[in-house]
Amino acid sequence: MTSHIKMIPELSKESVSMRDPQRVEETLNSMRQAGPNTLQVISDFDMTLTRFAHNGKRCPTCHNILDNSKLISEECKAKLKDLLNTYYPIEIDSSRSVDEKLPLMVEWWTKAHDLLVQQQIRKDRLAIVVEESDAMLRDGYRQFFDHLRDQDVPLLIFSAGIGDVLEEVIRQAGVFHPNIKVFSNYMDFDESGVLRAFKGELIHIYNKREGALLNTGHFQELRARHNVLLLGDSLGDLTMADGVQNLENILKIGYLNDKVEERKQSYLNTYDIVLVKDETLDVPNAILSYITGSQ
Ligand code: TMP
Ligand code: MG
Repeated sequence: MTSHIKMIPELSKESVSMRDPQRVEETLNSMRQAGPNTLQVISDFDMTLTRFAHNGKRCPTCHNILDNSKLISEECKAKLKDLLNTYYPIEIDSSRSVDEKLPLMVEWWTKAHDLLVQQQIRKDRLAIVVEESDAMLRDGYRQFFDHLRDQDVPLLIFSAGIGDVLEEVIRQAGVFHPNIKVFSNYMDFDESGVLRAFKGELIHIYNKREGALLNTGHFQELRARHNVLLLGDSLGDLTMADGVQNLENILKIGYLNDKVEERKQSYLNTYDIVLVKDETLDVPNAILSYITGSQ
């Protein structure tokens, strides 16, 4: 193993795989030399910043937090569960192409959002529902969020989940710091605080590139930050940095949570560092400490 990689013992964890350790070393070296003022972090939320499982039980996505809550009728819960059982296997099916999956993912999100809108969800109930949920950020989350804030590194959370719910998760964890910006699906409430629609363009798992390109203002503001650390858990997350201006170096870290054998090769081909069934932020934290020179 090469020298810079040796400087980061976490990269020797059993969960870590790399297609090209040499390239990872070179990228880390360039990013460290350029320093924290040139860095921005772009991360997916569900199953990337949050845990996939805890004690053998699946943890909820933003959508699941609502789906499993007391805000949803039993009849609607059953329908949402049917949707999950139909479409999640498609999301992670490595035998289907993105082109084939794309319309089906739009269908999933559209049907799920239509069902949620029928439930008269009240804005003032979201905090309690998040509090009562099993949502869990990955181990090491406080170090991750606090370190980025302390180093003045902007964090973009780019999520096909629900913005209002994810904000509440990080607010309740005490890590919704001012360096965070969120691109996600936000709820639109009427004057009495009842959900009536979702705002703006739908973000689903395979259109993050389009979402990134719609937000040129954000990337324009960060144009001096030409180095990117990207964190994701889906192959759709790889396009989250497509709007970045003057990109020089990008290091992509991918969490491979499910269907490991079938999907490992495609993750190795596209992510620089693949973390297999790793419920922690240890590797991103070690890399951030290394790049920002604060270890
Ligand atoms: P992410 O981009 O933050 O990871 O969010 C997308 C995840 O949300 C994706 O893995 C699928 C999941 N999802 C549900 O769990 N239930 C739903 O109803 C929908 C539409 C998506
Ligand atoms: Mg995800």
